[in-house]
Amino acid sequence: MDVKGRNFTRFLERRKLYENQHDTGAENRQHAKGKLTAWERIDILFDEDTFEEIDAYVTPDKSDTGFGKVQQAYGDGVIIGHGLIRGRLTFAYAQDFTVMGGSLGTVHAAKIMKIQDMAQKMGAPMIGLIDSGGARIQEGVASLAGYAGIFYRNVQSSGVIPQISVIMGPAAGGAVYSPSITDFVFMTNQTSYMFVTGPNVVKEVLNEDVTFNDLGGAGIHSKKSGVAHMVYEDEENTLLGVRQLLSYLPSNNMENPPEMEISEDETPDIEEKLRDIVPDDPNKPYDVKDVINLIIDKRSFLEISENYAQNIVVGFGRLDGKVIGIVANQPKTLAGTLDIDSSNKGARFIRFCDAFNVPLLILEDVPGFLPGIDQEHNGIIRHGAKMLYAFADSTVPRITVILRKSYGGAYCVMNSKNLGGDFNFAWPTAEIAVMGPEGAVAILYRKELAASEDPATMKKELAARYRNEIANPYVADERGFIDEVIDPAETRMKLIRSYEALETKFMNNPARKHGNIPL
Ligand code: HXC
Repeated sequence: MDVKGRNFTRFLERRKLYENQHDTGAENRQHAKGKLTAWERIDILFDEDTFEEIDAYVTPDKSDTGFGKVQQAYGDGVIIGHGLIRGRLTFAYAQDFTVMGGSLGTVHAAKIMKIQDMAQKMGAPMIGLIDSGGARIQEGVASLAGYAGIFYRNVQSSGVIPQISVIMGPAAGGAVYSPSITDFVFMTNQTSYMFVTGPNVVKEVLNEDVTFNDLGGAGIHSKKSGVAHMVYEDEENTLLGVRQLLSYLPSNNMENPPEMEISEDETPDIEEKLRDIVPDDPNKPYDVKDVINLIIDKRSFLEISENYAQNIVVGFGRLDGKVIGIVANQPKTLAGTLDIDSSNKGARFIRFCDAFNVPLLILEDVPGFLPGIDQEHNGIIRHGAKMLYAFADSTVPRITVILRKSYGGAYCVMNSKNLGGDFNFAWPTAEIAVMGPEGAVAILYRKELAASEDPATMKKELAARYRNEIANPYVADERGFIDEVIDPAETRMKLIRSYEALETKFMNNPARKHGNIPL
């Protein structure tokens, strides 16, 4: 056999070894837990036959082993590569739990860093499929250094390319911090969990009994901690969810989000319904998602963090085929008040949209910040300021429509004109004032009410007068604080034209290293 032949034989032998190294027993154990293997996940995530693996044959250096045995597996427990998602270039890594529990050693980390660097260089989204026991214990400090290198790249890529983390099993210890820096965290119910320290350590240190799921399952992180943005019932739908989200995002911060041609069928046909959606009684709730769905292209709303801080609704939608980011107060929950969690949720979404050229639509119905000892002691001042900061710092087109309440600080926060709102509209049902009628009357007419024989009736009459004279959209309209009071049924058309007028908006904030958002 000539030299060329010998080399080719070796090439084929290596390939065979790589193919045969799959541990069917371990793969079956994955399946038994309701989990897919790393390759099965990649096959669902990427367009058919488009994924190209690189670094398939790298193996841990034997000298890296400080303690215990490191499995000499080709690929070292992580698949990295690139492919197409809905026809667009995307980079990814997928940890393989069947190799040392997907634990992260030197070589494993180096592969992830390599693909992160490529994604940033190429200006394409980076997706991490995480299924890992965290830092590989055998490799000691080198594993920790590997994590630090991954975090560093996550931060350098933040605001440059979209980064998505999909938790598909354990994410323990340092493994949680890469996802938390990325833009969106996906989880699967029952099979994924994230925690800094697991139930065993919790038991040892605090003597508390808790299950994996109750400590860091998808339910906890989507409802209570806000760490997870999207949750699905199984892995296949989780991965299909990632594909759907990417359809709203540009590949990098120099591009605009992808546009779509929309058909007749996608235009909302019952916009008149918008005229009756806000109840006459100012204290009666309604679902702001009904408003959203009657304004944007049909079936285009993709809600983010649906189960967390439900007093604010955020998500992506399309308006005449063009992507917008929607931030809407939800009167159905806590009367739509702004509290700590909703401020954090809103601010982070606004920052994402601004970084990736997604114009913002703000639908406002908010009586104010949530009062109370709990909120004050936990820092509503600091957290509420994030919303203000995020809006004021954004340079993307920003349009507010005031649906109903716009009182006090909440008026200022929700992208008011003086905060840099490009167009500020109000429906005839809008109530814009320093505070609600009852509160205002109680302060302004305290003495008169105290002296009155029938204070209840007097208060009612004064409140009605206040509503008529002050808490309506016409005062703000006549003073230029809003641009126009509009017919609710014309909202969609008004917005389409307004965003067209803002398409060439270009502005730079003053040069600085970076601002100092109140974290
Ligand atoms: C090396 C590991 C490992 C790790 C799991 N394995 N985690 N090997 N380093 N960190 C190995 C196991 O030894 C086992 O090998 C195989 O992976 C499967 O693990 P099992 O325990 O059998 O699986 P399961 O019962 O499903 O439990 C999964 C698990 C558990 C919950 C993740 O393995 C676990 O608690 N691991 C440790 C998690 C953790 O505390 N990580 C934090 C590390 S510190 P065999 O050969 O038996 O198949 C950290 C700090 C980084 O990450 C800081 C950066 C800032």
